[in-house]
Amino acid sequence: MEVKSNNYSVYIGKDVLEDFNSILEDYQGQYSQIFIFCDENSSKHCLPHLIGQVPMLIGSELIEIESGEHNKTLSICQEVWETMGESKADRKAIFVNLGGGVVCDMGGMIASLYKRGIKFFHIPTTLLAQVDASVGGKLAVDLGAHKNQIGLFRNPDIVLVDPEFLNTLPERHWVSGLAEVLKHALIADADYWSFLSDMDLQNEEFLTALLQKSIQIKNAIVLKDWEEKGIRKTLNFGHTIGHALESNALENKGDLLHGEAVAIGLAVETILSEMTNKFSADECSIVIESLKGIFNLEPIKVEDFSDLIEWMRHDKKNDGSQINFTLLKKIGEAEFDKTCSVDEIEEAMITYNSLLSDR
Ligand SMILES: NC(=O)c1ccc[n+]([C@@H]2O[C@H](COP(=O)([O-])OP(=O)(O)OC[C@H]3O[C@@H](n4cnc5c(N)ncnc54)[C@H](O)[C@@H]3O)[C@@H](O)[C@H]2O)c1
Ligand SMILES: [Zn+2]
Repeated sequence: MEVKSNNYSVYIGKDVLEDFNSILEDYQGQYSQIFIFCDENSSKHCLPHLIGQVPMLIGSELIEIESGEHNKTLSICQEVWETMGESKADRKAIFVNLGGGVVCDMGGMIASLYKRGIKFFHIPTTLLAQVDASVGGKLAVDLGAHKNQIGLFRNPDIVLVDPEFLNTLPERHWVSGLAEVLKHALIADADYWSFLSDMDLQNEEFLTALLQKSIQIKNAIVLKDWEEKGIRKTLNFGHTIGHALESNALENKGDLLHGEAVAIGLAVETILSEMTNKFSADECSIVIESLKGIFNLEPIKVEDFSDLIEWMRHDKKNDGSQINFTLLKKIGEAEFDKTCSVDEIEEAMITYNSLLSDR
């Protein structure tokens, strides 16, 4: 399946890598060198499949980084740019990002800034990167524990989504990726939410349908508002709280994945939607019960509340010091630029904690 975006396409399915050969043939003569950017896990688990399917990549230069969010930094970008310089990469080089959201976000940025921009392809290998991070052109690295502070918008030249890569993904990262999937349903599509209630990720058809639907939802929103002036903000549902939790964990060397933080964010922001945005109590409990069924939700420590509020104030989505959210109106419909007070946010976090204890 092909999903068309601004001047590029996302190809989804088991055969996409075979098609990649002919895509590269079309590019032949137009590029000087290919770099494959990965981390140690995508190098070990995904590179053999990629090279096996795409012999034209034999002879490409491999650039491998250590995995994990704490490596999504400008200093790692600098090291990669130096390596590229030593390899005499010119403006006709192509950069292939093979990995999760960290590799795609950072690799896209590396390619976009090297000699003012070279072509880059995303080959996402985690569920989270396939359904969300590889689509939409947001590229960034973290600044200290501040998420995605240094970055830019620039679209990839191609995105290839091959579900085969997910065969080696650890369970924890499957679950983490589901946070973005549920977000897509909650903000944009009630039928998709119902479809997801019968989750069967072992089933190939179900998984392919999920990848297609999530990518279509994200892409449709991005096409309407690439620069996030309006409706694209709905994709931040769960992320005001989620990014605060993630930053707090990054700063304190905690162990919390992006999707795990977003899952907690979805729950708290669903509660806030009920408290302040006329989201019905019935739908609120349906959403919370579903989230509790899928994620191993941890309570939010009360002693962290004030730090979390500070992280939220510094969120780049805010103007001034007020804290903005995307909130649900009903399942499948969201509203953006909704300001909540500190008292309301703290009350929602307390309610969230209390709902976890009656498991
Ligand atoms: N640009 C965007 O629009 C956007 C959207 C959502 C999230 N993000 C970003 O994405 C990042 C999170 O992405 P992620 O969850 O993919 O994290 P990640 O890139 O750290 O990948 C998760 C883990 O899976 C490993 N891995 C990757 N592919 C594998 C495979 N096929 N088999 C086995 N292991 C594999 C990685 O090495 C890593 O350890 C965050 O930095 C987040 O901010 C960006
Ligand atoms: Zn996210």
